[in-house]
Amino acid sequence: MAQIMDGRKLAGEIKKRVKEDVKLLSSYGIDVGLGLLIAGNDPASHEYLNATLHACDQVDITPFQFKFPETASVNELLNTVKSINNDERINGLLVLLPLPRRINPRIVVNEILPEKDIDGLGSLSAGKLAADESTFQIFGSGDYDALYKQQAMSSVSSFLPCTPFGVIRLLEHCGIKIKGKHAVVIGKSLAVGKPLSFMLLAKEATVTVCHKATEDLASFTRQADIVCSATGIRGLINADMIKEGATVVDIGIKVLEDGSIVGDVDYESAEKKASFITPVPGGVGPVTIAMLLENTVRSAKGSQSLKHPLIRG
Ligand SMILES: NC(=O)c1ccc[n+]([C@@H]2O[C@H](COP(=O)([O-])OP(=O)(O)OC[C@H]3O[C@@H](n4cnc5c(N)ncnc54)[C@H](OP(=O)(O)O)[C@@H]3O)[C@@H](O)[C@H]2O)c1
Repeated sequence: MAQIMDGRKLAGEIKKRVKEDVKLLSSYGIDVGLGLLIAGNDPASHEYLNATLHACDQVDITPFQFKFPETASVNELLNTVKSINNDERINGLLVLLPLPRRINPRIVVNEILPEKDIDGLGSLSAGKLAADESTFQIFGSGDYDALYKQQAMSSVSSFLPCTPFGVIRLLEHCGIKIKGKHAVVIGKSLAVGKPLSFMLLAKEATVTVCHKATEDLASFTRQADIVCSATGIRGLINADMIKEGATVVDIGIKVLEDGSIVGDVDYESAEKKASFITPVPGGVGPVTIAMLLENTVRSAKGSQSLKHPLIRG
């Protein structure tokens, strides 16, 4: 029977530290604000928005919601991003994806100032990750508490995408060795699959990336020491597709008609064969949100450090 990778526990630890930082900033009269832009009716996005609002409340970060209907124009969204860029109250902006189909999300995400791009999806942040210029954030012993206390993480000029960074943090928190292991990532999106594969590579895993056009997916997943699935296809991965003792990270989220949430992995069968497995919900999701809050407070510390020398950025 697999050990459960408890994302709620890790998220709780990260949020505790974030709350302490928010309190410190507040003692200097600085409030930390997170912008959340959502357009359309995607159920998973609304689920994520609600969970993020709840988490903001837990750590005393002020959320600023920008909600648009499915019919929103790209111009409306761009103008909103521009005004958020100039809004001193908002330290970071998350654009919830997917946007309505007519709107190219890259145009919107690239409008976010890099220092407020706390989900690291703009071209500059994505390029820095690909060029190994921001991956130092995931190097070292995995002792993120020490890194954080030394302020090393709050002074970086770009942010790592929250979901893949959360996966790395969860793997390390559970003591799972990455270096030298074969990691198979299913999904190659800019938000999850691609940055996760770069981060695993930076951690010296051997990485295989699979996607919709991959022929015989099971032949790849069966070789994996670590399987990370990010497709949103319910039941894509079952026990027959993983090797005995593998680590299975389920990033996928599908909201069913009754409002319940399932992942990509057939948990019932996979947990009997895996050595570690993430539940859905309660695995990667809470850590993703905790990373978002951590990046937001880092952004606040970075921008305020010039104005308040006692706050080290
Ligand atoms: N847990 C969290 O915190 C969290 C955070 C973000 C996203 N998510 C969830 O993670 C999932 C992926 O998100 P995303 O933004 O990456 O979605 P996305 O942009 O729709 O990408 C999905 C990826 O899955 C691949 N794919 C689809 N069907 C496949 C199949 N049958 N076999 C192999 N690969 C297949 C696609 O391949 P192609 O590129 O070839 O089309 C694509 O790369 C979604 O369910 C999303 O809700 C969870």
